[in-house]
Amino acid sequence: MALIDTHAHVQMRQFSGDRSAVIARAFADGVARMVTPGIDVPTSRDAIALAAAYPGRIYAAVGTHPHDATTLTDEALAEQHTLAREPGVVAIGEIGLDYYRDLSPRDVQRRALVAQFGLARELDLPIILHNRESHADMISLLRSDGVGLRGVFHCFIGDIAIARDALDLGMYLSFAGPLTFPKNTELAEVAAWAPLDRILVETDCPYLTPIPFRGKRNEPRHVTLVARRLAELRSLRFEDAVAATERNAEALFRLPTLAQAADAPTPTSPTPTNPENGA
Ligand code: NI
Repeated sequence: MALIDTHAHVQMRQFSGDRSAVIARAFADGVARMVTPGIDVPTSRDAIALAAAYPGRIYAAVGTHPHDATTLTDEALAEQHTLAREPGVVAIGEIGLDYYRDLSPRDVQRRALVAQFGLARELDLPIILHNRESHADMISLLRSDGVGLRGVFHCFIGDIAIARDALDLGMYLSFAGPLTFPKNTELAEVAAWAPLDRILVETDCPYLTPIPFRGKRNEPRHVTLVARRLAELRSLRFEDAVAATERNAEALFRLPTLAQAADAPTPTSPTPTNPENGA
């Protein structure tokens, strides 16, 4: 039994100087596995290279983030389709809508999201959703174009009503650093209330560092702090929170158990082009 950081951007340039040390620290602290989402084609490719370097321990997701939605040309979508069939890819992500920062026009964000729903459906992969100040549109697009898809609302922020919408669509909720912020009572309420078999934990590193490390770069080992807070809010033993979230992540991403992964023959994985380059 060990934690899975279900959203760790360890391929990104913020980890260029010490990536293997960061990963080793996570493993040493009981974070045995992680899922590394892309935010565009190059970072998706880098995530796949990392997954090849750490088979059974690091998994990749392929996707274009709403901030970068303007980069999702037809060629990029075709490239993502190819990349998503590489070994170690377990999801389409991170994809979504962000009406808070609005770094891509909203209609472009919506188009990119729906196009990537299509990819997930075709390849039978779960989706990792980014949803910021865009809840109404996210739910309506999932209902119109995302029927039957499985996935997770990554770094879930919101109240019980919003959580209920996501759960009703069959989605998981993933909690990150904000769960540790004492003022976040609404989020604490959701974490205490949501069904235990639909909860994941993550860091979203290098962002969203939990207390008491705020202001510093986040890293996967800090997912332990999120799991501790989850356990506290639900009056669970820490081990039980770890076991439940691990089981949930294995179910959503269809991961072999750690023991199964260790038994599997090591794939003759290509040496990553250069995972130290990051994004
Ligand atoms: Ni992210």
